[in-house]
Amino acid sequence: MYNDKVMDHFANPRNVGEIAGANGIGEVGNAKCGDIMKIYLQVEDNIIKDIKFKTFGCGAAIATSSMVTEMCKGKTLEEALEISNQAVAEALGGLPPVKMHCSNLAADALHEAIKDYMQKNGK
Ligand code: FES
Repeated sequence: MYNDKVMDHFANPRNVGEIAGANGIGEVGNAKCGDIMKIYLQVEDNIIKDIKFKTFGCGAAIATSSMVTEMCKGKTLEEALEISNQAVAEALGGLPPVKMHCSNLAADALHEAIKDYMQKNGK
């Protein structure tokens, strides 16, 4: 039920792991299924220099997490804040309708991590 692009990001997720000394961390849970996603950011000069994620979730959650890390690397915080759940799902070529809620985790966790960085740095 997943397309090839989703399967690729699920089987070979990009940017998995943690960043020691991350300066922005976001964690969100999915109320519908109980899955959890955590994103670590390394921000320098308002640019996302590095990003890693850990997720306890389904294939769609892993694929969207992987995709969102690729989409925001090298972007400014403002640009990264504009990446929507919908945009992530579209970049993956679409998700099965029953899996759309899974795509919420990735962009939401990214946005939380950016807000965490901004709060810590008085922005
Ligand atoms: Fe929980 Fe997909 S079923 S994130």
